[in-house]
Amino acid sequence: MRPGAGEERTSGPGRIGARPPGELVSRDDVRGDARVEECARVEWALHERVKELTCLYGIARVVERADGDVEQALAGIVALLPAAWQYPEVTEARICVDERAWATPLWGPAASVQSAEVVVHGVRRGTVEVSYREARSAADEGPFLREERALIQELARQVGQLLERQQAGRDEERLRQQLWQAERLGMIGQLAAGLAHELNEPLGSILGYAQLAQRSFGLPDQTGRDLDKIVKASLHARDIVRRLLIFARQAPLAREPVVLNDVVRDSLFLLEGRCRRNGVRILLRLQPDLPPVSADRTLIEQAFLNLAVNGLQAMPAGGQLTVITRGGERVTLTVEDTGEGMAAEVRQRCFDPFFTTRPVGEGSGMGLAVAHGIVTSLGGSIEVESEPGRGSRFVVALPGGAAGAGGSDARL
Ligand SMILES: Nc1ncnc2c1ncn2[C@@H]1O[C@H](COP(=O)(O)OP(=O)(O)OP(=O)(O)O)[C@@H](O)[C@H]1O
Ligand SMILES: [Mg+2]
Repeated sequence: MRPGAGEERTSGPGRIGARPPGELVSRDDVRGDARVEECARVEWALHERVKELTCLYGIARVVERADGDVEQALAGIVALLPAAWQYPEVTEARICVDERAWATPLWGPAASVQSAEVVVHGVRRGTVEVSYREARSAADEGPFLREERALIQELARQVGQLLERQQAGRDEERLRQQLWQAERLGMIGQLAAGLAHELNEPLGSILGYAQLAQRSFGLPDQTGRDLDKIVKASLHARDIVRRLLIFARQAPLAREPVVLNDVVRDSLFLLEGRCRRNGVRILLRLQPDLPPVSADRTLIEQAFLNLAVNGLQAMPAGGQLTVITRGGERVTLTVEDTGEGMAAEVRQRCFDPFFTTRPVGEGSGMGLAVAHGIVTSLGGSIEVESEPGRGSRFVVALPGGAAGAGGSDARL
């Protein structure tokens, strides 16, 4: 509370000029006292402003030192807040953003709390709160000064700006990564397409002639078995070529209106038993009345299954597979797991054809390459977020508005 506003302060300017009881008071004395009180008030107010400015300056330094590390900056800001308030000895502070909180050590039940909203790009993302652990008498409209209410608003604004900068930085980085990824995969795709086309013809001949030879009469048993092996190996190679062509966006593609919710339900039906055995819960958050997308149903099912199977494989000791659909200008399908996650080197290469971290013979490394080819062929995008130990999230976005979709075998 301010001196002269009716409360006696135990220390500070309110006691300056105090006079022993019973002493005679002259008019000059009264004027002198008033001046002393006025000086004390101004001095006190200045002292408070200096504290606020020190706090704001400290925050600027903390943000600068954190060098883009928002968590570190928020922890630093919280630690600075109590000193800027009138009763630092009982003041605690907390900043909440999304589901996380940073607080001073004694934050807890409080006698009085003031708070301000943290808004990022017009969306409320959290709060800045300051509390007094013990009651302090009311000044202005509460135990907090008008200036302190303005200060907390300013701090919330600064935190909002910090988060906006973080968001802008992340968006920029994401765009850069996407561009780099698209260029890289485009180049690999061209190589893969050339290779696949070159292999397709000789492979067709090998398969065709081997199958013809199989029909010959009187083949020795061993020759029959050898031909079986040739046919089997050729079919396997043809399947790889087919997948390479899908990756390179060279495969024929049917177009029909497809509701992704149906794709998810039908495909997960195939995986339910495996999920149960692995201790994996499936959580579906499918938007009702999801608008259809124009897609090749079989291929989009394959893309989804590839993502879901990867999620399952990442959770050998159980976990949760979450599938989310959302409609809008673009329809999104998110497949999220709580599995082992990926290191940056793996994440950057996971869409490359033949890239796999699985033991030899257990993975062809074509699952995500195929999913990528299918989604981009449909004019969509596929993005990944993943951290080791924290699971992975794949977000597929496809153009909405499939109402007029039709026709089949559209080559891309
Ligand atoms: N959800 C995930 N969690 C952790 N790592 C993943 C996940 N999805 C993909 N990966 C990593 O990306 C690599 C490539 O995945 P991709 O699906 O293309 O091939 P694969 O699963 O190894 O083999 P295939 O799918 O052909 O059987 C995987 O080997 C794995 O290291
Ligand atoms: Mg896979």
